[in-house]
Amino acid sequence: MTDFIALIPAAGSGSRVGERAPKQYLPLAGRMMIYHALRTLCRVTRITEVCVVLAPEDSEWVQHDWSEFAGKIQTFPCGGATRAESVTNGLKALMAAGQATEEDWILVHDAARPGLSINLTERLLDELAEDEVGGLLAIPLADTLKRATSQARVARTESREGLWQAQTPQMFRAGLLLSALEQAPADITDDASAIEALGLSPKLVLGDAYNFKVTYPQDLALAELILRERMTE
Ligand code: CTP
Ligand code: MG
Repeated sequence: MTDFIALIPAAGSGSRVGERAPKQYLPLAGRMMIYHALRTLCRVTRITEVCVVLAPEDSEWVQHDWSEFAGKIQTFPCGGATRAESVTNGLKALMAAGQATEEDWILVHDAARPGLSINLTERLLDELAEDEVGGLLAIPLADTLKRATSQARVARTESREGLWQAQTPQMFRAGLLLSALEQAPADITDDASAIEALGLSPKLVLGDAYNFKVTYPQDLALAELILRERMTE
């Protein structure tokens, strides 16, 4: 039987959010940001293991009590210089430890997407469990798209037809994902890009707006509102 394993890259610094602490440890609805995605993924019964990739110099994680998730989570202090490197290193560690086979499904999820829900994760699993390639949560673009000149004036309006915004989790089989990441160009910003570079077409599974990535300072306030409500459920 193939397992479903979640892998959370949490080795970034959060430079765009502009706070002193790494973004995954910022307070959000009475917890730390990373807590929320961990809680959701640990509550999805089909996911047997949740692995967190930390920066080797991380000194924050061990200072907190994670016993609520005991038996389901594990940390790997092998984060790299980029997200892709952190995912690659975590996946290698997982496979070297014999905890994931080539055929197991890996759900890579950003620590900075605290609004992921159990339902959305279940939808991803339902739609991809029998898929040949794997895929990702994504939402069709809502806004009108403008191409800018170097002076920040509109050069033209671009069609948004067929354009989607990629979210996470992104779900691929461990063996395929590792070999894709090892061959991928250095500038990729998600896992699906590595799979696409092999000529494969990941499936787009409809996500939702709550699953946005906390990137800029104002995103913190929005995430706080959403999660405060969710924590009462
Ligand atoms: N990430 C990682 N290793 C890195 C860079 C990023 O594990 N070297 C993780 C982040 O911790 C985050 C996810 O990848 O959970 C998405 O990245 P992003 O939102 O870009 O976070 P940061 O890189 O931390 O933020 P910024 O780009 O603003 O510095
Ligand atoms: Mg980044």
